[in-house]
Amino acid sequence: MFATVILLCLCFWFILLQLKSRRPKNFPPGPPILPVLGNMLNVSLKNPLKDFGRLRRSYGNIYSLFIGPRRAVVISGVNAIKEALVTKANDFSGRPQDQLINDVNHRKGVVLADYGPGWREHRRFALMTLRNFGLGKNSMEERIHGEIKHIIYTLEESIGKSLTPQVMFHNAASNIICQVLFGTRYEYDDEFMRVIVRCITELSKMANGPWATLYNSLPMIRNLPLPFTKAFRNAETCQKLIRDLVIKHKKTRIPGEPRDLVDCYLDEMEKRGNDGSSFSEEQLVMYALDLHFAGTDTTSNTLLTGFLYLMTNPHIQERCQWEIGQVLGGKDRVSFEDRHKMPYMQAVIHEVQRIANTVPLSVFHCTTKDTELMGYSIPKGTMVIPNLTSVLNEEGQWKFPHEFNPENFLNDQGEFVKPEAFMPFSAGPRMCLGEGLARMELFLIMVTLLRKFKFIWPEDAGEPDYTPVFGITQTPKPYYMKVQLRATQ
Ligand code: HEM
Repeated sequence: MFATVILLCLCFWFILLQLKSRRPKNFPPGPPILPVLGNMLNVSLKNPLKDFGRLRRSYGNIYSLFIGPRRAVVISGVNAIKEALVTKANDFSGRPQDQLINDVNHRKGVVLADYGPGWREHRRFALMTLRNFGLGKNSMEERIHGEIKHIIYTLEESIGKSLTPQVMFHNAASNIICQVLFGTRYEYDDEFMRVIVRCITELSKMANGPWATLYNSLPMIRNLPLPFTKAFRNAETCQKLIRDLVIKHKKTRIPGEPRDLVDCYLDEMEKRGNDGSSFSEEQLVMYALDLHFAGTDTTSNTLLTGFLYLMTNPHIQERCQWEIGQVLGGKDRVSFEDRHKMPYMQAVIHEVQRIANTVPLSVFHCTTKDTELMGYSIPKGTMVIPNLTSVLNEEGQWKFPHEFNPENFLNDQGEFVKPEAFMPFSAGPRMCLGEGLARMELFLIMVTLLRKFKFIWPEDAGEPDYTPVFGITQTPKPYYMKVQLRATQ
């Protein structure tokens, strides 16, 4: 009897050993791997950032983790991240293709497309179209100023009261990208807008949360009715709304006279015909959703962080307002060009982006071939996690890595300087393609609002809590703000 039990235990142990994932030869080090679970107990699935910092201290700038059976390499620090994403860009610019979010978006779009001709064509097309919208009467600057009017209206309505700015900033960011994509803005209570913003916020939370990790690492649970099925429902709802918009565009467009990105895309599809290009209507639906998704939460969460810190650091807010007054004087409105004359404002916006750490782990990459990084071997198909957090607060790179301080971006002469470790948009060929648009939005919105209003942390709001809520994009915890019209206005 005893021998049978021992034998059974040995068999069980042997099976577990076989199930256990192993580090390939010369793979980056990491914590011991458990069968089936891999290293899932080594990191909090809700918010792994602290654990990633702890593991970096134990194993260095490049270490490995097994998320279930899936091997991943976490890269930290400006030097290692640049070496991978810039110097060895061709090897490190893929995207994992077996994630919840790939299934949700039917492997279409641009953000999660693998490194190849389809991704390249769509990335180039988006950059070109965004650039072309930068000029003329319908320029990006005009569109942003148009949307700012609505923010001002909302704030004016709230003078003397406390308001929660979350929905206002989300809708503003969403509307700016909607104007580029669909040539339309939506009232803040519009059903289309409310549904899209809700779905996107929930999808973004879900995609980096514990249920997505379980879906990604345990294929056998993918067909079960677990909470991740909500991601599919949300995506389907969004896709249907966008499909309807594309249909409307097809009915009303004049070929060769595009009103927005959707028209440009339809023109491009016609031009290409059936030459086997990656352009298609289904692709367009996901592409538009992708651009909207990538451009909404990111910008609005950065704005939310900005106003949280400006309200709770009134001396910094006042210094911005002083500089704005000096530079703009009686000028009607601010233009993006004015940024060159506003070093302090520039420093504040960059510091807001650094502290907001809006996309803390970038978007995951994947190796496209067997490669090496700083002496380690990394096989093709390994998930790569660029830990942007580790760069944005890296000691040795910043004067004040752990506090909100615009001095991080000012030299001794008070001039604006941008340290190499400023990487909120990531780096290399997959770097954010909306950087130009985002920077313009942040500058025009923050300057215009600071010029007109004073932002006050309400007396009854208690101590501010700066701890962000983790997700693909991080956001501050919901807060209240009070606004006053500035005396100089
Ligand atoms: C403050 C605002 C923003 C931040 C912090 C941000 C940050 C990022 C980051 C970290 C990535 C991942 C890069 C990588 O994989 O290495 C990314 C990708 C991307 N972003 Fe942004 N982003 C912002 C705004 C925008 C806007 C306004 C758009 C809209 C056009 C946009 C479109 C994209 C797209 C399409 C990608 C995927 C690029 C690719 O895979 O080739 N982003 N962004």
